[in-house]
Parts: sequence; structure tokens; C-alpha cells
Amino acid sequence: MTTGSALQTLALAPDLIITRMGYGAMQLTGPGVLGPPEDRDQAVAVLREAVRLGLTHIDTSDFYGPAVVNELIREALHPYPDDLHIVTKVGGRRDDRGGWIPSHDRAALRAQVHDNLRHLGLETLDVVNLRTPTQDGTSDDDVAEWFGTLAEMRDEGLIRHLGLSGVTAGQLTAAQAVAPVVTLQNLYNLTNRADDALVDRCAAENIAYAAFFPLGGFTPLQSQTLSDVAERVGASGQQVALAWLLQRSPTMVLIPGTSSPAHLRENVAAAGLTLPPDAIAALDAMAG
Ligand SMILES: NC(=O)c1ccc[n+]([C@@H]2O[C@H](COP(=O)([O-])OP(=O)(O)OC[C@H]3O[C@@H](n4cnc5c(N)ncnc54)[C@H](OP(=O)(O)O)[C@@H]3O)[C@@H](O)[C@H]2O)c1
Repeated sequence: MTTGSALQTLALAPDLIITRMGYGAMQLTGPGVLGPPEDRDQAVAVLREAVRLGLTHIDTSDFYGPAVVNELIREALHPYPDDLHIVTKVGGRRDDRGGWIPSHDRAALRAQVHDNLRHLGLETLDVVNLRTPTQDGTSDDDVAEWFGTLAEMRDEGLIRHLGLSGVTAGQLTAAQAVAPVVTLQNLYNLTNRADDALVDRCAAENIAYAAFFPLGGFTPLQSQTLSDVAERVGASGQQVALAWLLQRSPTMVLIPGTSSPAHLRENVAAAGLTLPPDAIAALDAMAG
């Protein structure tokens, strides 16, 4: 495995420099992203280990648990190191059975921002992503209106920077007409590349493209090609999947999730893995 040691960073604003390798905290709950984790001490240990390893970028939301993940982050890491950037998202709530319910009216968005502030123990949130509903008739104008509520809260000093999640190119353009977008978080990995054009646009506009489900999420990535490349370069399949993403675009940032300290260390080590051109070509050809 060809490795380098330093974690690369990406500057999105003078006060927002993040490691391209981050940590996604969603899975630090009970099953179904609901309730407390089975092993609370291990969840706290994973968060502390992420910071100890040098990651300065943690992705969360108050609807993970709900509130469980944010409260764990606070317990594990507050008072936060100056260089740590916690990226959260709003635009949804959970119902009694754990369903994910879109929630975007002005009062709801404002309440969600305040919930994040309270549960994380912060006076200002570094980055808030507006998460839009998937698979419905959300228009560009809807996104602009909802984004406007967050822009208002940015002007009030409650949020420093804004981002988007689950959006199309048109919705990105609509939001940019309201306020600057520093990050966009969509589904993208070795086998899901519907967003190729958006990945390239984010690179051209210095927007961090945060790939969610970088390891396939609830359906782990599996392929013979991936296993073959992993064996050839002396790394795990997960490390190869992450390294491929980092080499895909200079503004790609990663938020792999894990509840295991060992997996966390393995994933962070992938930031130092440089895949040779023949490995990249084989992985590029995996797109379905
Ligand atoms: N914006 C959105 O709508 C949205 C949607 C989904 C997720 N997200 C964000 O994206 C982040 C990443 O998503 P995710 O955690 O669901 O998916 P993921 O990172 O693609 O995969 C996580 C899964 O991979 C396993 N894993 C992690 N590292 C591993 C390793 N080195 N070896 C073997 N297995 C490994 C984890 O299990 P172990 O715990 O056993 O390691 C977990 O089951 C979330 O934390 C969340 O912050 C955002």
C-alpha cells in the first residue's frame, strides 16, 4: 500500500478548513438510527479517536437518534478543539416509528437549528446543510425559499456557512442565488455515480462535495474488481473505495461512518493511500 502521512485539507472559507477525510456520525445510535447505541462508551471512544487521529470534520444531524448523536458528540468532545468543524443538517424530523419526515417550513427549520445548537452545546453552528426531500416534487423555488430561512439565521449569527444535501444541479443554482453554498452532500460512491456532473461542478466552484454512503451505507459495496484491486495494492476493499473517491475530485470530502475504533483507524489510513493509474482505471470501469 502506497501511503502518505498527512491528512489533506480543503479550505472552503478562511474560517472553514476541513480535513478531506472526515467522520460521519449517523451510525452511533441504536438500530434504524433511533435511540441510544448499544455501547455508549465505545461511541464516545470513536468520536474521541476521530479527533485524536487528526480529523477536523464531523458530520451529524439532530434527527440521528433524534438528538442522541449530537448529545454524544457534546459528551465526547465539548469544549471543542478550535479547528474542529461540525457539519449538521436540517430539513427533517422523525416520527414515532423512526420514519423520516420532511420538515421545511420556516418555524420548523428555525426550531431545528436551535435544537442542534442546544444539543451540541454551541452558540454558532459552523455549517448547516439544508436537506431536501428525495423523490417528490420539490421545485427549485422551494429550495430557494427554505434556504432563505437558513440564510436569515446566518445573518443573525447563528450559522457561519451553509450547504445543501440531496439536491439537483438546478436546486444548487437556485440556492446560490440566495446565499453562498460551501458544501453539497449527496449519495456518491464507486457504484452510484449519477452525480458525476455535479461532482465536477463542485470542483470547479470550490464547493466541498461530501459523498454520503461512501462505503455503500446499509448495503456494503461488494465486487470482485474491488477485491482484486484491494489485494493488488495491499489494502482493504473499504480503503480502496475511499481512496478512489478522494482521487476522483479535489473537492471530494468523505464522511464514512463506523461505530468501531478499528474501522475508523482503517478508514483514516485510506487518506494516505494513492491508487496507481491501472487500479483507478479498473475501478472507473465498475460504474453500473
Ligand atoms: N445527507 C443525507 O441524506 C445522508 C444520508 C445518509 C448518510 N449521511 C451521512 O453520511 C455518513 C456516512 O453514511 P453511513 O455511515 O450510513 O454509510 P457508509 O459510511 O457508506 O458505511 C457505513 C457502514 O460501513 C461499515 N464500515 C465502516 N468502515 C468500515 C471498515 N473499515 N470495514 C468494514 N466495514 C466498515 C460500518 O459498520 P461498522 O460500524 O461495523 O464499522 C457501517 O455499517 C453518515 O454518518 C451520515 O453522517 C447523510
